[in-house]
Amino acid sequence: MDTGKQLTGTLAVAVFTAALGSLQYGYSLGVINAPQKVIEKHYGRSLGVWSEKAAILSENGTEKSKLLEPGQHPDVIMYWSLSVAVFSIGGMLSSFLVGFIGDLKGRVKGMLMVNVLAVAAGLLMGLCKMWKPHIMVISGRALMGFYCGLTSGLVPMYIGEIAPKAYRGALGTLHQLAIVIGILISQVIGLDFILGNDEMWPILLGLSGAPAILQSFLLPLCPESPRYLYILLGKEQEARKSLLRFKGAYDPTPDLEEMRKEKQEADKEPRISILSLICSSVYRQQLFVALMMHLSQQLSGINAIFYYSTAIFSRAGIGQPVYATIGVGVINTVFTLVSVALVDKAGRRTLTLVGLGGMCCCAVAMTVGLRFQNEFSWMSYVSMSAIFLFVSFFEIGPGPIPWFIVAELFSQGPRPAAIALAGCCNWTSNFIIGMTFPYIQAWLDSYVFILFAVLLLGFTVFIYLRVPETKGKTFDEIAAVFHSRRGKPKDSSELQQLKTSSDA
Ligand code: GLC
Repeated sequence: MDTGKQLTGTLAVAVFTAALGSLQYGYSLGVINAPQKVIEKHYGRSLGVWSEKAAILSENGTEKSKLLEPGQHPDVIMYWSLSVAVFSIGGMLSSFLVGFIGDLKGRVKGMLMVNVLAVAAGLLMGLCKMWKPHIMVISGRALMGFYCGLTSGLVPMYIGEIAPKAYRGALGTLHQLAIVIGILISQVIGLDFILGNDEMWPILLGLSGAPAILQSFLLPLCPESPRYLYILLGKEQEARKSLLRFKGAYDPTPDLEEMRKEKQEADKEPRISILSLICSSVYRQQLFVALMMHLSQQLSGINAIFYYSTAIFSRAGIGQPVYATIGVGVINTVFTLVSVALVDKAGRRTLTLVGLGGMCCCAVAMTVGLRFQNEFSWMSYVSMSAIFLFVSFFEIGPGPIPWFIVAELFSQGPRPAAIALAGCCNWTSNFIIGMTFPYIQAWLDSYVFILFAVLLLGFTVFIYLRVPETKGKTFDEIAAVFHSRRGKPKDSSELQQLKTSSDA
């Protein structure tokens, strides 16, 4: 049977274009770390609580109250913490809107529309020296977070819908690959001799809007998702055209037939809102699995490493911690590439299990390293290797897979609502770890990673018991696995119940 070319130029352009949104997300995640000290000085100056002159005077012992470093002043601390945290708050709020935006005008136009936010955010940050930098940066970060909350749902949704079944995992992993490349770029150009200095830092922050400009030029070249066109809008002819653009000259009948079946199913169901998805018993298992996958990604402690790696490395006695942090970024990228190569062969379940299990062992090794570093100097090598391995295990499975598996676990009807909920769960847990890690570290000291080891063990057991393999299955086949687990097919009374709650 002619299934059409699997990987065509149009598909490559579409995936590349969409992934520019993920690159922007990664860049924005990473960019705020390196220039912290430089930005704090500017905040201090513009708030009138710190100045170079006063700092010099205070060194001569004349003005006691100005002896504080800018980053120690309570006002600067507050505005700085807000600049970091407001990004996640923006993401938490907007992730709820992913389904709405994706369905409103389609996936492609949705991504195009939201680019306005990224460009505006980039301008606010890039031009922040023109007015009060702290206000400009905080507004820019909030807007950028709002944008990234949308893009972190829209990109996997679009890629998941246009990817041929056999490559859905590899193409889905490209979302994460673009995120980690974005983090790495921001780490490198954030070095003080590149853009992370007094003069250039606004450009460093402002550049986070740049991929959106390129993406806006490329999106008009990308065909709309055929599944969206056919299953949601009922436009069979347009879906056919889109399939032909994605797959070259071939007979699209089998693909359309598969979508027709899914449409039939979807037509039996009402359009599922977030609230009805939460309340529905029909999708409870899928939803639980989706949320647990995202929780396992965040509560693994990965961002404790990303946000605080420089501090963790210095604590573990590593000289040149900034370069060790960039080393983490490189390892991160390399192992995401390994995942791209493996995910459609080894499968989602196996890679997640190996990844989480490996991370659990590394968390134990990190604890040993931190605990005994004063007794044995070579323990700093144990800690450093454990951190590198921790990140490698994360990227082969627990990093990329949750982002695209949600689109696989749900059929067209509930998919947008499920992606929105999973995204919100991801952003919220990310925010919680970012805010609480310094306190947890102060409390547990060198035992801090034991907490993550316990959580990781719990998640490994959960995935082993509850998560089915989705590799190579159609969306319908995946849904069938969950329905058979429930022991009965969806019956009309349940669907009626769903309808009532979603109408309400
Ligand atoms: C995933 C996580 C993100 C993390 C990144 C690290 O994309 O969602 O929070 O920073 O991986 O590679």
